[in-house]
Amino acid sequence: MADRFSAIGVFDSGVGGVGTLAALRRELPEERFIFYGDTANAPYGTKSREECMACVQRVMDHLLAQDVKAVVIACNTATAVAAAELRARYELPIIGIEPALKPAHELRRGGSILVLATPMTLRLEKFRALYERYGEGAIPLPCPGLMELVEQEAYGQAKRYLTELFAPYDLTQVDAVVLGCTHYVFLRPVLAELLPPNVQVLDGNEGTARQLKRVLAARELLADGPGGVTLETSGDADAVIPVMARLLRRA
Ligand code: DGL
Repeated sequence: MADRFSAIGVFDSGVGGVGTLAALRRELPEERFIFYGDTANAPYGTKSREECMACVQRVMDHLLAQDVKAVVIACNTATAVAAAELRARYELPIIGIEPALKPAHELRRGGSILVLATPMTLRLEKFRALYERYGEGAIPLPCPGLMELVEQEAYGQAKRYLTELFAPYDLTQVDAVVLGCTHYVFLRPVLAELLPPNVQVLDGNEGTARQLKRVLAARELLADGPGGVTLETSGDADAVIPVMARLLRRA
């Protein structure tokens, strides 16, 4: 039976969610986290909704078997596909991440907002509802294949990908770029080279960390240390864990 001393499960389709994990650690240094990257089944964002749901269910079973007290879905795609269903099915707190369109809307000065995410995230009703409310001036840009470049740490290729993606737009008229996939957060240095300096680049990591803290506090589930991290993957651990550890240090 999970209690406040139990670990918090965090998962993504791959390594991108370690950026979220880093934000969670900063906000809640006294918590223990188990991070699971479902690398063997990545990417989620170009699968069907049903295939993605099946992957998420397997990850949930894996985390629940370790008696976690809460789950953070460090993946915009899995949140859009599965968060509502999982909350209906389980008692424990389930925190999701979504594209930071609201904060982008709030800082918009009449220019456009480029929203980068997986094809699935941009297709589903969760994003449609967000877009309906905060989508003025927002241009959704699906980025199939981009998460794979982060998995491979292929930043040169990612820079070429983004250069092509941005080519049709006048970047001097852009107020913000929303990173609606946790993998893309690791492309911030590349984006800094491509975007004018006044363009704000937003992600949902800090907001997700604050939300987790609020929910744990409300349910009296906050731990008081010692904190720590366990990294796990469904892929080749010898190859993937060092990448996760490197990105976690960088984040
Ligand atoms: N990191 C994931 C996200 O935030 C998805 C990448 C993928 O599996 O396609 O959307």
